[in-house]
Amino acid sequence: MTTFLEQLDKNRIPTSVAIIMDGNGRWAKKQGKNRVFGHQTGVESVDHVMEAAAGIGIKYLTLYAFSTENWNRPINEVNALMDLFVTAINSYLEKMLSHNIRMVIVGDIDRLSEKTRNNMQMAIDKTAGCTGMTLVLAISYSSRWEIVRAVKNIAAEVKDGKLNLDDIDDACFSNYLATKGIPDPDLLIRTSGELRISNFLMWQLSYSELYFTDVCWPEFREEQLYEAILDYQNRERRFGKTSEQLTK
Ligand code: IPE
Ligand code: IPE
Ligand code: MG
Repeated sequence: MTTFLEQLDKNRIPTSVAIIMDGNGRWAKKQGKNRVFGHQTGVESVDHVMEAAAGIGIKYLTLYAFSTENWNRPINEVNALMDLFVTAINSYLEKMLSHNIRMVIVGDIDRLSEKTRNNMQMAIDKTAGCTGMTLVLAISYSSRWEIVRAVKNIAAEVKDGKLNLDDIDDACFSNYLATKGIPDPDLLIRTSGELRISNFLMWQLSYSELYFTDVCWPEFREEQLYEAILDYQNRERRFGKTSEQLTK
């Protein structure tokens, strides 16, 4: 039996992949464990998926780890997640360096504690020189937060005469987003069977291929990533054109 990895067209690996890592809590509860156990196991999935993604040549992997809405969860779970982010990032550090992975964070990080922020900044600084894959962690992130912030910054610059109204276009607007410089996802994966975007990368996903799987994040590992990419490789991305135009 050929594996999903063997079936992949190595010349058509997506440049940019984003994942909504969902289903930790339900996965844990199903086996009589608490939700935090699900998050802990999810940390291991990140480890596997990050290495697999870098290994097949994905250049940008964006992981939705914590939304602005997730701040409304019970305080115990929020605190456990914040602690977990710090220990997880520290545990990934060696692998990120040995696999040439640069880590960046997008999100409203002013809402994190100073200790959490400093810890994350340390990993960002240490991996800043890595030139292989960029691991983008979306923490305290939401698309509406990001878009409102961009609009405010653009308005302020127009008001101050630093930006001309006529210069505002798609590319210009993208430069005011937290994901500035990160290519729009070619592929978005959401685990756990939910069919929604949950305030994630709404501008950037305009032309992404969407892939939904019932597998919960703690069970999403290398094989599931390769399977998703294989599915992606069987799509035809038309960007508004006709199929005939593409084959010319
Ligand atoms: C995803 O799993 C992780 C975060 C949102 C932080 P969930 O915690 O949302 O798990 P479910 O969806 O409740 O099962
Ligand atoms: C989306 O998952 C956010 C992350 C995966 C970090 P949620 O579990 O918070 O999404 P909803 O609330 O079910 O849409
Ligand atoms: Mg969820």
